[in-house]
Amino acid sequence: SLVEPRSRDEDQANWALRPRSFDEYIGQRSLLDKLEIYVKAASARGEPLDHVLLHGPPGLGKTTLAQIIANEMGTRLHVSSGPAIEHKGVLAGLLTGLGEREILFIDEIHRLSPVVEESLYSAMEDRRIDIPVGEGSSAITHSITLAGFTLIGATTRTALLSAPLRDRFHIVEGLAFYSDDELAAIVERSAAMLGLPASEEGALEIGRRSRGTPRIANRL
Ligand code: ADE
Repeated sequence: SLVEPRSRDEDQANWALRPRSFDEYIGQRSLLDKLEIYVKAASARGEPLDHVLLHGPPGLGKTTLAQIIANEMGTRLHVSSGPAIEHKGVLAGLLTGLGEREILFIDEIHRLSPVVEESLYSAMEDRRIDIPVGEGSSAITHSITLAGFTLIGATTRTALLSAPLRDRFHIVEGLAFYSDDELAAIVERSAAMLGLPASEEGALEIGRRSRGTPRIANRL
């Protein structure tokens, strides 16, 4: 389909077109206004941003927003996904690799296994992860203290998440479909970046055919 799946080539092509700051971003105005305040407040306090859950249909810019939040916080974004975190060890590796105020983005966070999800709880709440070392009767648990990190989770619908996971995000925000005018503006911006001519009417025609979704607009 036009929305999914997203190929590696397309990801790379899209990457160049993605807005890198709140200023460059077109649409999602009320969401951006809120995120800007959260980012400013955390930055002023020198603290990590609260954990953020972004929900909404595919192609609306959840990954892009995570990258922008990291840029605006002046910190690094580490990207993973629910299905890629196959066991606790993978999660522990990701979490212990995070520096102070760095951000871990987990796409499709509703697809984490229950065991992995459970070890995420203490990480989010207490900056601590317990790792079993050894086996059988000599097994012990190592408790590792983590840096003050931010988790940004993305999911298509919050209803897909368990209540305990959802409750550990203090910022929960949805992305809405874009208007035809916003999509036309995105098409014009992308065309300009690619050095391609685009008429106003042409951009609007593409915007109208993009089902509210920037990924489709850029594809067309
Ligand atoms: N490219 C894809 N989505 C965009 C957006 N929301 N603003 C600007 N360029 C984009």
